[in-house]
This record gives sequence, C-alpha cells and structure tokens, in this order.
Amino acid sequence: MKKTTTTTKRVLLFPFMAQGHLIPFSQLAHLISLRNNHSVTLVNTHSNILTLRSILPSSSTVRLSSLPFNPSDHGLPPGHESTDSLPFHLFTPLFLSTESLRPAFTRFVSDALSSDPTSPLSIIADPFLGWTVDVAKDLGVFHAFFLTSGAWGSAVFLSLWTHHPLPWSDSGDLVLPNRPNVRLHRSQVTPLLLDGDADNNPEFAFFHRQIAQFCKSDGLIVNTAEGFERSGVEFLKEESGGMPVWAVGPLLRVPSTPSSDDTHIGWLAGHPPASVLYVSFGSMNTISASQMVELAMGLEASGTAFMWVIRPPSGFDFKGGFREEWLPEGFEERMREQNRGVLIHGWAPQMEILSHGSTGAFLSHCGWNSVLESLCNGVPIIGWPIAGEQFYNSMMMVEEIGVCVEIARGNGNESVVCREDVERIVRSVMMGGEGEEMRRKAREVGEVLRAAVGEGGASVRAMDDFLHTAALSFV
Ligand code: UDX
Repeated sequence: MKKTTTTTKRVLLFPFMAQGHLIPFSQLAHLISLRNNHSVTLVNTHSNILTLRSILPSSSTVRLSSLPFNPSDHGLPPGHESTDSLPFHLFTPLFLSTESLRPAFTRFVSDALSSDPTSPLSIIADPFLGWTVDVAKDLGVFHAFFLTSGAWGSAVFLSLWTHHPLPWSDSGDLVLPNRPNVRLHRSQVTPLLLDGDADNNPEFAFFHRQIAQFCKSDGLIVNTAEGFERSGVEFLKEESGGMPVWAVGPLLRVPSTPSSDDTHIGWLAGHPPASVLYVSFGSMNTISASQMVELAMGLEASGTAFMWVIRPPSGFDFKGGFREEWLPEGFEERMREQNRGVLIHGWAPQMEILSHGSTGAFLSHCGWNSVLESLCNGVPIIGWPIAGEQFYNSMMMVEEIGVCVEIARGNGNESVVCREDVERIVRSVMMGGEGEEMRRKAREVGEVLRAAVGEGGASVRAMDDFLHTAALSFV
C-alpha cells in the first residue's frame, strides 16, 4: 500500500491502571500528538480515562476512548479500577481483570483498521498488558511495550523472571546470570519470586505470562535517557534477546508556575535555598506504623526542615483518615509551631515542590517517576525503596551515579530503619559535604536529562526513529 509523508499516522496507547503508569503514558501520548501528522488515542477503562484527562494538558489533542469494564465482575469494589484506590490485596484481581479487556480492545483496533485502511496504525502498551501483543500480531499491527520504569530496573526485573529460579551465592545472595557482579539480598526481591510458583499463585502466574509475552513485541520504549542509563540500556537489550530499545525520556509533567498563594509553595518560599527535605513514598506504597515513628523521631532530631507527604501506615486504608496515634505525641503540632516541618495529608504538588529552589533533597521510595522528577531538578535522593524495581533504581543511583544514599536496602521487616540512622543520614545530606557533592552530581545529571529531551537531543532522535520504524512497518 502506498504511503505518503503526509498520511496521518495513528498511535494507540494503552497504559496499566496505576498513577505511576498513567502519568508517563499521558506524557508520551501528548508528545507524539505534537508531531506533524500524528493522531493519538489513549485507551482505558472509564474511570482511568477521567484520570488521564486530568493529567493531560487542557490543550492536548490526544483522544481518549473508554473500553467497557465492570469492576464488580472481577471482585473489585464499584468504581475501583486502579491501584490508587485499592488495598494491596486487591491488586491481583485488578491485574487479572485486565485480560477481560481483550475482546473490546480487539474490536477497537480492528474497527480503526477498517475505517481507514491506508493510514498507519501502531500500538504502544503497558508490559502488564502482555496480551496486547497477540492482538497486534493477529491484526498485523506494529506493537511496542512502553516501560514506565528505568532501563536498569526493568532489566533486573526481567532477568529475575526469565532466569527464575536464580542461583544463590555462598553468602546467601541472589546472583544474576548475565551480571554476576550484581548481588541481591533476598529482601530486595519480591516475595513472589522467592516463594511463588505458577501452579498455586495467580499473581505469579500473571507475571509469568507477561514475561512470556514481552519478547514477542516489536520493541521497547523506555522512560529514560541513554546518556543517563547507558549500562541499563545495554543490559535491557541483552536481557530481552536483542530487542530494539528506544530511550525517549525523561517524560515528565510540566510543573505549573509556582504560586506563593499555594500553601506548600508559600511555606517552601520562606526557607533558604536547598534547605528543605521533601519526603514521599509515591502513589501507592506506605511504611509500617513503627517505621513512621522512627522516621518522625529521626527527622525531628536532625534539625532539618522537611515537607512529608504522609499516608496511613501499611495495613490501613491508603486514602483513609489519619490518626494522631501513628506519630510521636505532639509531633505535628511541635513541627508546625517551630516552623520546622509540614505534613501533607493527601496529594502533594510533587513536581512544583521538587522544582522549588528551597528543596535540597528527596527522601523517596525510588519509584521511577519520582527519581526522574528529582534528578531533572538537580535534587539528590535518600533512598528508602519498598517494592518492585525500586530497589534496583536505588542501587543503580548509589553505585553508578552517586546521586543517592540509601537509608534502607530491603523491604518489610528485613530492613528496619532506626531513628539514629534517619538523623545521621539526613544531617549528612542536608548539612554535610556529602550532600553538597550529591547535589553537584544531581545538577550534572539534570543537565544530561534535560538535554536528551531538548532540541536535537538523543531522546528526541530515539522518538523519531521509533515513529519512523512503526509507520514503515505498516503494510
Ligand atoms: C509505581 C511503582 O511504585 C514504581 O516503582 C514504578 O517505577 C512506577 O510505578 P509509584 O509508586 O506511584 O509508581 O511512584 P512513582 O513512579 O514515583 O510515581 C508517582 C507519581 O505520582 C509521580 O509522578 C509523582 O510526582 C506523583 N505524585 C505522587 C504526586 O504528584 N503527588 C503525591 O503526593 C504523590
């Protein structure tokens, strides 16, 4: 079929239903929609479409299309179609429920093809939606997975799953076959991989299926920059058996213009440059009640000003009410009176906080969006990884880049953080020479990241190459 350069190229994007995935997918969709002759559609369930609409710039031309979905058919409470509103024990039903979207998605793609058979169409899907590869292959459409985590973290994750069960070293660590120097403590590996198997654990079987689908795709788009994660990109290519990898990041929300009318930004503005520690564990992770007390006591003893996005501890409703008993007695009031600390109960304007000059470091769970948002703003990280690939993000930033120091290395009860560690590490990053050096490196990394998405940057060229490859493959 003859194609001309002015033919509109259509791209369908399908993210998994979690804030940490919806945000970078909406940025990718918006970025592609800004290209000449590209028409972009984001597909999802109704309530996630509403979330995507709220994330996209109001001027965006990205189309939004909902697929029929009934949460209660999958044991999910009515209206609960994303990890953001679900307790952890309902994540597996949500993972499994995504497979029910296949018939409606197939119809959607096939209608798009028959409505305009000459205009190239490609699919960019979340790796948690592995079945989308089969839909694409059945209908002869180009398919890529978009990894919303970094290259290194994704490669370690892929390695853990593809080579499962992995060998243990004599010292009791897991050894990655293609990277024998990388040793992982068992607390840095999801319990699913340590104890689960496909026959008796539906969540294990789900991830196993996604990994099997992974390498059937035509390529991988990653939210990273090659100049920032060179060894991660190499590792990912190896682990995926030589798949094309397009590093198109960092894809970030543009912060709104900081306004000192905003309570939090106004509070930050009253503090000296790089003097406030921002503390947040992302959109779905929490720490235990006892760890919250240690963190609070350590922050108070450190003497540093801080802004802490605080949620109920693990085991309680993530979005439920907050109880004073979860913190040391009088902590919040004392911090407020001394103008030392602010607790944000609910959703924080994270991009605006990280881009404010008064923010000096980020105590983070090392979710990939948080990592990129911090480093793009030249803000170093104190790592407290909790789950998933967060351990590997943190490890890579400590060992390869020097912009992170870890306060905790593993999850759950295997890595207990005490108030003395919090005080010591926070002091050294906020007040000591170590922090100055980390801030200098973070500023350098920030320049590399911003240059990658600037005019003619490596990530822009990778995006050109991806779009060209996708359009050319349309027959
Ligand atoms: C999840 C996984 O935990 C993470 O490991 C993976 O890399 C991506 O998916 P999440 O835990 O939500 O993500 O963390 P993160 O990747 O940091 O994404 C959170 C996003 O929500 C960030 O863009 C952050 O700016 C935003 N956010 C979070 C807010 O704007 N305000 C908040 O209060 C909390």
